[in-house]
Amino acid sequence: MPTLDTTALPPESLLSETLRDDFPILQQTIHDNKRLVFLDSAASSQRPRQVIQRVQDLYERDYANVHRGIHVLSERSTDAYELARQKVQHFLGAKQDHEIVFTAGTTASINAVARSWGDANLSAGDQILLTPMEHHSNLVPWFQLADRTGALIRHIPLTDDGRLDLDRLEEVLGERTKIVAVTQISNTLGTINPIEEITQRAHAAGAVVLVDAAQSAPHLAIDVQKLGVDFLALSGHKMCGPTGVGVLYGREELLDAMPPFQGGGSMINQVRLDGFTPTGLPAKFEAGTPPIAQAVGLGAAIDYLTAIGLDKIARHEHALVQYAYEKLQGIEGLTILGPSPEHRAGVVSFVLTEPHAHDIAQLLDLDGIAVRAGHHCTQPLHTLLGIAASTRASFYLYNRPAEVDALADSLGQVAALFRPSGRKRRRKEAKS
Ligand code: ALA
Repeated sequence: MPTLDTTALPPESLLSETLRDDFPILQQTIHDNKRLVFLDSAASSQRPRQVIQRVQDLYERDYANVHRGIHVLSERSTDAYELARQKVQHFLGAKQDHEIVFTAGTTASINAVARSWGDANLSAGDQILLTPMEHHSNLVPWFQLADRTGALIRHIPLTDDGRLDLDRLEEVLGERTKIVAVTQISNTLGTINPIEEITQRAHAAGAVVLVDAAQSAPHLAIDVQKLGVDFLALSGHKMCGPTGVGVLYGREELLDAMPPFQGGGSMINQVRLDGFTPTGLPAKFEAGTPPIAQAVGLGAAIDYLTAIGLDKIARHEHALVQYAYEKLQGIEGLTILGPSPEHRAGVVSFVLTEPHAHDIAQLLDLDGIAVRAGHHCTQPLHTLLGIAASTRASFYLYNRPAEVDALADSLGQVAALFRPSGRKRRRKEAKS
């Protein structure tokens, strides 16, 4: 019998108790008055009313297309859009605002680099270095590039506890390595990867580095110049911003040398009947009407997060994860994937001997708890771990220790229900 670690004490909340009130969606109850416990922010975060209001204000007061009209609304909209670019620049510590390109999201940013930089720089026999913990969006674009160019895919091996085994980096990093594409935080294991060290060693080998920051930019302070990375991709919707907007950061010299990856309006200097010349950065990479309101909303999200402080948010989430780790470990039959809390961010994926991850998620949902179940777009990692699926709880700034308690209690009941004694009880109940 159970099971739960009753010695684990909830951490003191490091963030203001009223902060949660900023998120209207979290104020609801579901399934017969169960308070919503939202633990699926790694898939997509919720957004505060400050962000929602900013987008609404733009649409109600200032909206028009950007960089096109000589009229007041277009000028206001253009100013708001370009101000958002500067906010991203400062958020990431980039040297220039034109190193910030607005895209549709992390996936679009990585695909853009693979297409534009990759096609121009890779040929048969060159190597692309990835890791087994990458999201499909940091795998498939490189597989496609390898198919187009004849380049070869290599992987940095993992340690048994789900970290990158950098002692073995030299086995896979060589003079044919052209790019190292790596996530800063694994969306499944929660592992925080040492990007600065990887970048230094990749640069020493002559490779450029792309960082998938989809799971890190919302949760910890990033300085692209300090990290030394060449490209970085992030998504607005995971960091309290709107959907449909993301960022590609690229070092100026690299972006300058890259051909545009999409053709259309705004990205040209001149179009003739028989061809075109592209314009400069960043417009060269922003063909068509960009995600104007979404970028402005992302700027508001950055204001919101920086006013609280990324370091504070990271410490808050770390305390929650530490607490969740201690509590969940006490559940019989439950295995947590990935490293110990000191190496991980606010993600805890786990498997139970029984039932299947989807059934766990469904039972948790009945208790008002939202988690993700499946392979989380990291199928190769799950295959490597010998499992088809896992259940994932992911935390953000609005989560509270009481929600970890709710998760642990509900999971404890699910686990008990599927133990042999619980199964017998369920059969009896089904018959009666
Ligand atoms: N990439 C998102 C996740 O990990 C969707 O859930």
